[in-house]
Amino acid sequence: MGSNNLLPGFRLKKCRQAAVYHALLRQPLSIGYTERIINLMAMGRLHLIEFEDQRWFPAFLRTYMTDFLQFLSNKTGMFKPIIPMLQKQLAKSQTKTIVDLGSGSGGALLGLSKDLTQKIPQLNIRLTDFYPNTDAMDRINSGNVRLSYENRPIDAKNVPAELHGLRTLFLSFHHFKPTDARLILQDALDSKNPIAIFEAQERSLISILAMLFSPVTVWLTTPFIRPFSLGRILFTYFLPLVPVFVLWDGVVSALRTYSVAEMSRLVAGLKGKEQFEWSIGKIASGPSKILYLRGL
Ligand SMILES: C[S@@+](CC[C@H](N)C(=O)[O-])C[C@H]1O[C@@H](n2cnc3c(N)ncnc32)[C@H](O)[C@@H]1O
Repeated sequence: MGSNNLLPGFRLKKCRQAAVYHALLRQPLSIGYTERIINLMAMGRLHLIEFEDQRWFPAFLRTYMTDFLQFLSNKTGMFKPIIPMLQKQLAKSQTKTIVDLGSGSGGALLGLSKDLTQKIPQLNIRLTDFYPNTDAMDRINSGNVRLSYENRPIDAKNVPAELHGLRTLFLSFHHFKPTDARLILQDALDSKNPIAIFEAQERSLISILAMLFSPVTVWLTTPFIRPFSLGRILFTYFLPLVPVFVLWDGVVSALRTYSVAEMSRLVAGLKGKEQFEWSIGKIASGPSKILYLRGL
């Protein structure tokens, strides 16, 4: 039977897509789904669409999703173990500014800023996003003077020259295909701005299983997410679009995440890479691990 008969309208143009299709559907029936997923992950990154990345995706749903991520990052303190890394990188590169890219609703830096500004009182943190979250921007810009949210779209691949400082990306690097991911690194290198990238998920069965539980986490945490919003309640419990999109984007994020070897290959392809000191690896965070890629 031809593939088009099996999956009408689904065009398998590239070899890897065909391989993915075979891994998922054409393996012997004796192979369980766990093994199929492991085979799929062994094939490399799978860049399926994330709804959050789409221009047409309703901004209010994107906001509910990034609010959830922000809440989770800060309530669990999952990024706290990276504080010494950031401190060291700021000190070594003699900058007192962090320029966060793809900040969403503020992300981990909302929480980390308290610890960081205690250690570095003059620190400025500038949050940015290609789809700036206007509600978070208003809240942040009317609060702590050390923390601000840029009131214009900032593309992580092409950061304006006046935004100097340590560039950070939390839970965002997997959004970029290798060509764009390399552009982000090359831009930091060319403009002599250090960079630190952190991902809390990986392309592993455990991460994918954790993502499968994300709707439950959304349902359990939503009443505690601030600001309170009737829309958030409506689209979480009554018309559950938020849990569905968090589930899809979560699983796709895990499948898109660069491994340590793939990150190393991205760095190896940079022009003038030797001008920076690079470190790539994983750091423990509770029962889990944070993947990092740093250059300075
Ligand atoms: C998974 S969210 C992470 C948000 C936040 N960093 C956090 O940890 O909660 C990914 C973010 O990347 C942003 N994004 C997507 N494409 C981008 C681009 N080209 N440049 C900058 N940000 C982008 C999205 O708008 C979204 O806010």
